[in-house]
Amino acid sequence: MTSGVVVRPVTAEDEKFLWAMLFEAAHAGEQGMVSPDELKGVPELACYVEGWGRAGDFGVVGGRDGELEGAAWVRWFTHDKPAYGYVDDETPELAIGVAPGLRGVGVGTALLDEVVKEARLHCPGVSLSVRLSNPALRLYRRAGFVEVPGTEMIDRSGGSSITMVLRFS
Ligand SMILES: CC(C)(COP(=O)(O)OP(=O)(O)OC[C@H]1O[C@@H](n2cnc3c(N)ncnc32)[C@H](O)[C@@H]1OP(=O)(O)O)[C@@H](O)C(=O)NCCC(=O)NCCS
Repeated sequence: MTSGVVVRPVTAEDEKFLWAMLFEAAHAGEQGMVSPDELKGVPELACYVEGWGRAGDFGVVGGRDGELEGAAWVRWFTHDKPAYGYVDDETPELAIGVAPGLRGVGVGTALLDEVVKEARLHCPGVSLSVRLSNPALRLYRRAGFVEVPGTEMIDRSGGSSITMVLRFS
C-alpha cells in the first residue's frame, strides 16, 4: 500500500460515495451533469453502482488522514447486459475515481493495488474501459493491464475509449 493511504472494503453505507466517485470516473461534469444523482437516469453509467451490495460486488474506499478520497470497485456484467469494459462473464469490470484536487499523490495507486489483490481471490482477471486521452492509462499499464485489441470505440463524450484487461494467469 502507498504510504499514508489507508483503504478499507466498501460497505453498503458507502453507496453515496460510490455515486460521487462514479461521477468522477465517468467524467460526468464534462458531459454537463452537475450532481451524481443525475447518473441514476443514465442506465449505461448507473449500472456500475445501482443497488450496490449484489452478490459478487466488492471494492475499496480510502485516502489519507482518515478521509474518504477515492474508491475502486468491481462488478460482474453479462453478455446480454454488458457495461463499457465488458470482456466476458467471468471477468468483472473495474471503476475507479479519486476526488478532484486530491489526484496524483498515490491514492488511486493504493486503491487499485488493493482491489486487484482482492480480485485475485475471486476471478481470473479484471477489465476496464478508459479514454485513450486519459493519463490513467499509465496507471493501468503499470498495474499490468493491457489493451484488448479491436475494442476502440467512440464514447459518450465523442472521444475514443478502449477496453483493458488484467489477467491473473
Ligand atoms: C485515475 C485516478 C483514479 C488515479 O488516481 P490518483 O490518485 O490520481 O493516482 P496516483 O496518484 O496513485 O497515480 C498517478 C497516476 O494516476 C494517473 N493520474 C494522475 N492524475 C490524474 C488525473 N487528473 N486524471 C486521470 N489520471 C490521473 C496517471 O496515470 C498517473 O500516473 P503518472 O504519474 O505516470 O502520470 C484519478 O486521477 C481520477 O479519479 N481521475 C479522474 C477520473 C478517471 O479518469 N477515472 C478513471 C476512468 S477509466
